[in-house]
Amino acid sequence: MIHLSDPITIRNLTLPNRLVMPPMATAKADENGYVTDEVCSYYQERAKYSKIGLIITEHSYIHLQGKAHPGQTSMASDDVIPSFQRLTDSIHREGVKVFAQLSHAGSAALSKTTGQPPVGPSPVCHPKQREELPAEMTVEQIHQVTEWFAQAALRAKRAGFDGVELHSAHGYLLNQFFSPLANRRTDGYGPQTVENRVRFHREVILAVRQAVGEDFPIALRLGGCDYEAGGSTVEDCVAASRLLEQSGVDLLHLTGGMNGFVRPGHGEPGYFRDLSVPVKGAVHIPVLLTGGVTTPAQAEVLLEEGCADLIGVGRAIFKNARWAD
Ligand SMILES: Cc1cc2nc3c(=O)[nH]c(=O)nc-3n(C[C@H](O)[C@H](O)[C@H](O)COP(=O)(O)O)c2cc1C
Repeated sequence: MIHLSDPITIRNLTLPNRLVMPPMATAKADENGYVTDEVCSYYQERAKYSKIGLIITEHSYIHLQGKAHPGQTSMASDDVIPSFQRLTDSIHREGVKVFAQLSHAGSAALSKTTGQPPVGPSPVCHPKQREELPAEMTVEQIHQVTEWFAQAALRAKRAGFDGVELHSAHGYLLNQFFSPLANRRTDGYGPQTVENRVRFHREVILAVRQAVGEDFPIALRLGGCDYEAGGSTVEDCVAASRLLEQSGVDLLHLTGGMNGFVRPGHGEPGYFRDLSVPVKGAVHIPVLLTGGVTTPAQAEVLLEEGCADLIGVGRAIFKNARWAD
């Protein structure tokens, strides 16, 4: 039986335990997207007191075109590296590992934030940002964004991160390609098959792998189900997970899709276990389950019941670094 205090190896990286702080935007970066002292001490305090083995830092935009909101951290240019280096050093000093979450918000990246028109798989408004219609991305633009992910991952590696997490959840760009609610394309990236819906993801994974080399874990946060008629289903999530594993992802972090990190009608510890249990049965790589956990005892039960290999604790840690005391 697996316990919270058991170490786990993800590719070449061994974590001291199975508790993870999932990405949560503080929105406190400066106007260049640099990590500020305030952000640094927030993470350092959690590394010190929250009893976690891994922190996945808040979503960082890989290019201004994909910036979701003011105060978001940037991984879009080399000049951010020193500020992230300070952050990773302070987390490592507490014996905790750290991944950077990399993101492009697609149709949720509005021109009032980015200074440029939003893009997405199709001209479909984001469910939570209906003010501006995105332009359908050309294949050339898809390749360009793939390259931005790769460059951002390399920056994260140079800044001392132990791995990266690709953000394909909560209605952001990669999730928009995965979800038939947002993807109406008629080309090979369209919604006709699950394989098409994760083609972009698989190209990103390969490009990131090429950029960072073999000894660097790549996680992917999958918004596996939209919980809405016509959206992604649990079956889609399982099929996609298999394909993502084949492309070389080292860790799958399961959560909700176009409607965000909630599952309608559920708030119990591990409320995305409807995704993590079948995915765990379908892949060989570790599965991380986040949602609804507020005590170490709840996390322990989810591991004992075989719901996942690692457990994320978000809001409880966000509110209180000493959540587990
Ligand atoms: C303030 C806040 C910011 C968040 N920012 C991100 C983010 O940057 N990237 C992401 O993938 N999820 C983000 N999330 C979702 C969390 O990672 C997590 O899935 C959610 O809080 C549910 O887990 P919990 O019940 O343990 O809090 C955010 C959640 C909150 C509350």
